[in-house]
Amino acid sequence: MIEGQLVRLRAREPGDAERAFGWINDWEVARFLLVRYPLSLASERIWVEATPAASFGGVHLAIDTLDGRHIGNLDLRNVMPENRTAELGIMIGDKQFWGRGYGADAVRTVARLAFHRMNLNRLYLHTYAYNERAQRSFARAGFTLEGRLRNHLFVDGRYWDVLVMGLLREEFDAQEQTAGAGA
Ligand SMILES: CC(C)(COP(=O)(O)OP(=O)(O)OC[C@H]1O[C@@H](n2cnc3c(N)ncnc32)[C@H](O)[C@@H]1OP(=O)(O)O)[C@@H](O)C(=O)NCCC(=O)NCCS
Repeated sequence: MIEGQLVRLRAREPGDAERAFGWINDWEVARFLLVRYPLSLASERIWVEATPAASFGGVHLAIDTLDGRHIGNLDLRNVMPENRTAELGIMIGDKQFWGRGYGADAVRTVARLAFHRMNLNRLYLHTYAYNERAQRSFARAGFTLEGRLRNHLFVDGRYWDVLVMGLLREEFDAQEQTAGAGA
Protein backbone atom coordinates (compact mmCIF):
# COMPACT_ATOMS: atom_id res chain seq x y z
CA MET A 1 0.00 0.00 0.00
CA ILE A 2 1.12 3.51 -0.73
CA GLU A 3 0.10 6.26 1.60
CA GLY A 4 -0.43 9.96 0.91
CA GLN A 5 -1.64 12.64 3.31
CA LEU A 6 -5.35 11.84 2.81
CA VAL A 7 -5.44 8.60 0.83
CA ARG A 8 -4.02 5.12 0.65
CA LEU A 9 -3.55 3.44 -2.73
CA ARG A 10 -4.00 -0.34 -2.79
CA ALA A 11 -4.56 -3.19 -5.24
CA ARG A 12 -8.16 -3.65 -6.38
CA GLU A 13 -10.19 -6.48 -4.88
CA PRO A 14 -13.22 -8.34 -6.33
CA GLY A 15 -15.41 -6.74 -3.64
CA ASP A 16 -14.68 -3.29 -5.14
CA ALA A 17 -16.75 -4.07 -8.25
CA GLU A 18 -20.16 -3.14 -6.76
CA ARG A 19 -19.01 0.35 -5.83
CA ALA A 20 -17.34 0.94 -9.20
CA PHE A 21 -20.52 -0.31 -10.90
CA GLY A 22 -22.51 2.37 -9.04
CA TRP A 23 -20.02 5.12 -9.90
CA ILE A 24 -19.67 4.47 -13.61
CA ASN A 25 -23.44 4.16 -14.08
CA ASP A 26 -23.92 7.60 -12.46
CA TRP A 27 -23.91 10.14 -15.31
CA GLU A 28 -22.70 12.90 -12.96
CA VAL A 29 -19.48 10.87 -12.64
CA ALA A 30 -19.45 9.15 -16.04
CA ARG A 31 -19.77 12.38 -18.07
CA PHE A 32 -16.24 13.26 -16.98
CA LEU A 33 -14.96 9.84 -18.05
CA LEU A 34 -17.24 9.38 -20.97
CA VAL A 35 -18.53 5.96 -20.23
CA ARG A 36 -21.29 6.43 -22.82
CA TYR A 37 -23.32 3.29 -22.31
CA PRO A 38 -24.71 1.54 -19.22
CA LEU A 39 -22.43 -1.21 -17.91
CA SER A 40 -23.62 -4.32 -16.12
CA LEU A 41 -22.42 -5.45 -12.70
CA ALA A 42 -21.31 -8.73 -14.34
CA SER A 43 -19.07 -6.88 -16.80
CA GLU A 44 -17.64 -4.71 -14.00
CA ARG A 45 -16.85 -7.85 -11.97
CA ILE A 46 -15.09 -9.41 -14.95
CA TRP A 47 -13.19 -6.15 -15.47
CA VAL A 48 -12.01 -6.00 -11.85
CA GLU A 49 -11.09 -9.68 -11.77
CA ALA A 50 -9.17 -9.36 -15.05
CA THR A 51 -7.20 -6.35 -13.77
CA PRO A 52 -3.56 -7.36 -13.88
CA ALA A 53 -1.41 -6.90 -10.78
CA ALA A 54 0.38 -3.57 -10.75
CA SER A 55 3.62 -3.74 -12.69
CA PHE A 56 5.74 -1.59 -14.96
CA GLY A 57 3.25 -2.39 -17.73
CA GLY A 58 0.40 -0.67 -15.90
CA VAL A 59 -0.79 0.35 -12.45
CA HIS A 60 -4.45 -0.05 -11.53
CA LEU A 61 -5.20 0.88 -7.93
CA ALA A 62 -8.08 1.59 -5.58
CA ILE A 63 -8.13 4.89 -3.67
CA ASP A 64 -9.09 4.53 0.00
CA THR A 65 -9.34 7.21 2.66
CA LEU A 66 -6.87 6.68 5.48
CA ASP A 67 -9.69 5.15 7.54
CA GLY A 68 -10.28 2.55 4.84
CA ARG A 69 -13.25 3.83 2.83
CA HIS A 70 -13.01 3.05 -0.89
CA ILE A 71 -13.74 6.31 -2.75
CA GLY A 72 -12.30 5.82 -6.23
CA ASN A 73 -9.77 4.25 -8.57
CA LEU A 74 -6.78 5.38 -10.57
CA ASP A 75 -4.61 4.00 -13.34
CA LEU A 76 -1.28 4.55 -15.01
CA ARG A 77 -1.68 3.18 -18.53
CA ASN A 78 0.05 3.36 -21.91
CA VAL A 79 3.42 3.08 -20.20
CA MET A 80 6.12 3.63 -22.82
CA PRO A 81 9.44 2.26 -21.52
CA GLU A 82 11.57 4.00 -24.15
CA ASN A 83 9.98 7.39 -23.48
CA ARG A 84 9.52 6.86 -19.70
CA THR A 85 5.96 8.20 -20.03
CA ALA A 86 2.54 7.05 -18.79
CA GLU A 87 -1.03 8.31 -19.00
CA LEU A 88 -2.91 8.97 -15.78
CA GLY A 89 -6.60 8.27 -15.29
CA ILE A 90 -8.48 8.93 -12.03
CA MET A 91 -12.01 8.73 -10.70
CA ILE A 92 -13.14 9.78 -7.23
CA GLY A 93 -16.47 8.00 -7.66
CA ASP A 94 -17.93 8.85 -4.25
CA LYS A 95 -19.22 12.38 -4.88
CA GLN A 96 -19.21 13.25 -1.15
CA PHE A 97 -15.42 13.35 -1.48
CA TRP A 98 -15.24 15.76 -4.42
CA GLY A 99 -13.49 19.07 -3.89
CA ARG A 100 -11.89 18.10 -0.58
CA GLY A 101 -8.33 17.55 -1.74
CA TYR A 102 -8.52 13.74 -2.11
CA GLY A 103 -8.01 13.83 -5.89
CA ALA A 104 -4.94 16.06 -5.73
CA ASP A 105 -3.45 13.93 -2.94
CA ALA A 106 -4.08 10.69 -4.86
CA VAL A 107 -2.40 12.19 -7.94
CA ARG A 108 0.64 13.35 -5.94
CA THR A 109 0.85 9.93 -4.33
CA VAL A 110 0.77 8.00 -7.59
CA ALA A 111 3.22 10.51 -9.12
CA ARG A 112 5.66 9.62 -6.33
CA LEU A 113 5.30 5.95 -7.31
CA ALA A 114 5.65 6.77 -11.01
CA PHE A 115 8.77 8.90 -10.70
CA HIS A 116 10.59 7.33 -7.78
CA ARG A 117 9.73 3.63 -7.97
CA MET A 118 8.99 3.12 -11.67
CA ASN A 119 11.58 5.64 -12.85
CA LEU A 120 9.17 7.36 -15.24
CA ASN A 121 9.99 10.84 -16.47
CA ARG A 122 6.65 12.27 -17.57
CA LEU A 123 2.97 11.79 -16.75
CA TYR A 124 0.21 13.16 -18.94
CA LEU A 125 -3.56 13.10 -19.00
CA HIS A 126 -6.53 14.18 -21.05
CA THR A 127 -9.42 16.05 -19.46
CA TYR A 128 -12.58 17.56 -20.89
CA ALA A 129 -12.90 21.33 -21.20
CA TYR A 130 -16.04 21.34 -19.01
CA ASN A 131 -14.29 19.48 -16.19
CA GLU A 132 -13.01 22.54 -14.34
CA ARG A 133 -12.79 20.74 -11.02
CA ALA A 134 -10.40 18.21 -12.56
CA GLN A 135 -8.26 20.90 -14.18
CA ARG A 136 -7.91 22.76 -10.90
CA SER A 137 -7.21 19.57 -8.99
CA PHE A 138 -4.52 18.50 -11.49
CA ALA A 139 -2.99 21.99 -11.37
CA ARG A 140 -2.96 21.77 -7.59
CA ALA A 141 -1.18 18.41 -7.93
CA GLY A 142 1.48 20.09 -10.09
CA PHE A 143 0.29 19.46 -13.65
CA THR A 144 0.65 22.11 -16.38
CA LEU A 145 -1.76 22.74 -19.24
CA GLU A 146 0.13 21.75 -22.40
CA GLY A 147 -2.38 21.78 -25.19
CA ARG A 148 -5.91 21.64 -26.45
CA LEU A 149 -7.45 19.13 -28.86
CA ARG A 150 -10.14 21.24 -30.47
CA ASN A 151 -13.66 19.80 -30.75
CA HIS A 152 -12.25 16.38 -29.89
CA LEU A 153 -15.26 15.25 -27.86
CA PHE A 154 -18.99 15.08 -28.54
CA VAL A 155 -21.19 14.98 -25.48
CA ASP A 156 -24.51 16.53 -24.38
CA GLY A 157 -25.31 17.55 -27.95
CA ARG A 158 -22.16 19.54 -28.80
CA TYR A 159 -18.43 19.34 -29.37
CA TRP A 160 -15.93 20.17 -26.64
CA ASP A 161 -12.19 20.65 -26.51
CA VAL A 162 -10.04 18.08 -24.72
CA LEU A 163 -7.16 19.47 -22.69
CA VAL A 164 -3.75 17.83 -22.38
CA MET A 165 -1.93 18.29 -19.09
CA GLY A 166 1.50 17.00 -18.11
CA LEU A 167 3.92 16.73 -15.22
CA LEU A 168 7.67 16.16 -15.55
CA ARG A 169 9.73 14.43 -12.91
CA GLU A 170 12.04 17.43 -12.49
CA GLU A 171 9.01 19.66 -11.84
CA PHE A 172 7.57 17.18 -9.37
CA ASP A 173 10.86 16.90 -7.48
CA ALA A 174 11.23 20.69 -7.31
CA GLN A 175 7.66 20.98 -5.99
CA GLU A 176 8.26 18.30 -3.36
CA GLN A 177 11.43 20.08 -2.24
CA THR A 178 9.59 23.39 -1.93
CA ALA A 179 6.74 21.72 -0.02
CA GLY A 180 9.28 19.99 2.25
CA ALA A 181 11.11 23.25 2.90
CA GLY A 182 7.82 24.95 3.81
CA ALA A 183 6.72 22.15 6.16
C1 LIG B 1 -11.38 15.17 -10.95
C2 LIG B 1 -11.22 14.65 -9.52
C3 LIG B 1 -10.21 13.51 -9.53
C4 LIG B 1 -10.68 15.81 -8.66
O1 LIG B 1 -10.52 15.35 -7.35
P1 LIG B 1 -11.19 16.20 -6.14
O2 LIG B 1 -10.76 15.55 -4.90
O3 LIG B 1 -12.64 16.32 -6.40
O4 LIG B 1 -10.53 17.64 -6.36
P2 LIG B 1 -9.54 18.44 -5.38
O5 LIG B 1 -10.23 18.67 -4.09
O6 LIG B 1 -8.21 17.79 -5.43
O7 LIG B 1 -9.40 19.82 -6.18
C5 LIG B 1 -10.58 20.47 -6.62
C6 LIG B 1 -10.27 21.85 -7.14
O8 LIG B 1 -11.36 22.29 -7.92
C7 LIG B 1 -12.08 23.32 -7.26
N1 LIG B 1 -13.49 22.98 -7.43
C8 LIG B 1 -14.28 22.24 -6.63
N2 LIG B 1 -15.51 22.14 -7.17
C9 LIG B 1 -15.48 22.81 -8.35
C10 LIG B 1 -16.43 23.05 -9.37
N3 LIG B 1 -17.67 22.59 -9.29
N4 LIG B 1 -16.04 23.77 -10.46
C11 LIG B 1 -14.78 24.26 -10.56
N5 LIG B 1 -13.83 24.05 -9.61
C12 LIG B 1 -14.19 23.33 -8.52
C13 LIG B 1 -11.59 23.31 -5.84
O9 LIG B 1 -11.68 24.60 -5.27
C14 LIG B 1 -10.14 22.87 -6.02
O10 LIG B 1 -9.35 23.91 -6.57
P3 LIG B 1 -8.31 24.77 -5.68
O11 LIG B 1 -7.35 23.77 -5.10
O12 LIG B 1 -7.67 25.67 -6.70
O13 LIG B 1 -9.15 25.45 -4.67
C15 LIG B 1 -12.59 14.18 -8.93
O14 LIG B 1 -13.46 15.29 -8.75
C16 LIG B 1 -13.26 13.15 -9.82
O15 LIG B 1 -12.81 12.03 -9.88
N6 LIG B 1 -14.34 13.53 -10.51
C17 LIG B 1 -15.14 12.61 -11.32
C18 LIG B 1 -14.36 11.90 -12.40
C19 LIG B 1 -13.37 12.78 -13.10
O16 LIG B 1 -13.62 13.93 -13.40
N7 LIG B 1 -12.18 12.22 -13.35
C20 LIG B 1 -11.11 12.93 -14.03
C21 LIG B 1 -11.22 12.77 -15.48
S1 LIG B 1 -9.89 13.59 -16.34
